[in-house]
Amino acid sequence: MNIYALIGDPVEQSVSPEMQNAAFKEKEISGVYCKLRVSVEELAETVEGMRLMVSGFNVTIPHKETIIEHLDWVDKDASKIGAVNVVKNEANRLMGYNTDGKGAVAALKRIEELKDKNALVLGAGGAARSICYELCREGVEHLYIANRTKERAVKLCSDLRKNGCHCTVLALKDRELKEVIHNVRFLVNTTSVGMHPKSEASPIKREILHKDLIIEDIVYNPLETRLLREAESVGAKTINGVEMLVLQGAYAFEIWTGVEAPVEVMRDSAYNALLEFNKKEKK
Ligand code: ATR
Repeated sequence: MNIYALIGDPVEQSVSPEMQNAAFKEKEISGVYCKLRVSVEELAETVEGMRLMVSGFNVTIPHKETIIEHLDWVDKDASKIGAVNVVKNEANRLMGYNTDGKGAVAALKRIEELKDKNALVLGAGGAARSICYELCREGVEHLYIANRTKERAVKLCSDLRKNGCHCTVLALKDRELKEVIHNVRFLVNTTSVGMHPKSEASPIKREILHKDLIIEDIVYNPLETRLLREAESVGAKTINGVEMLVLQGAYAFEIWTGVEAPVEVMRDSAYNALLEFNKKEKK
């Protein structure tokens, strides 16, 4: 039996166990995935335990960056991003990867190729970093990054430029977004604006959105955020946060097992688990 885990704090809301366990069952792989709440103080000791006991694990908030110093090897992309969300244990050597951005960008690519198109990313935190790296790798023509704290976007943009990416920093203000959005095809919200319980908030005004946008929101609680609802109302194409969740998990499954991930099964189990979770929360 191969053991896999998610480490983070908090982890209660995560549906990765449902998704990965369904994938193991579907592919008849002897594996079990569990979630472990691990505080910052417990990280070093937990990772040493992982080295002896598990075949692989996921890493979430607040450990995605600090995990790196505990690993034996980090993939080139994850190293540039500065964060790891997947670790594979190969004969007690811990190898780190980042599949967050790949998941989000694969969801966009299912709708349309990104090469030579312009993209606007809202937010400049950990998720934005991995998504922006992936967007640049896909050959976007120009990347606009809008963040509440401008300095954070400036740092991200300057890191991206070192990789040959063309990017511009904006404030997360409708006035500035309005200037560029008519030139943008892909819009990704990586901020937590609109997330439960403040689900009436949106990071951008409806009046600025247009029908030629393809909009992805990485927030998955609620499944339809205000941003996505308003995007649909202006005729834009939308992708909800479950897609990134499922596809980053599918890439993790493939890294661990070398077997093609059963994406449909993983998506169904993620939806079911999220609906259950939401039902319980409402009680
Ligand atoms: P993650 O790993 O999920 O990206 P993070 O690194 O904490 O989490 O980043 C959260 C992002 O959401 C940041 O871009 C943050 O903006 P700041 O850099 O200004 O903090 C953004 N964010 C969170 N709450 C916000 C709010 N109320 N309004 C605008 N942006 C917000």
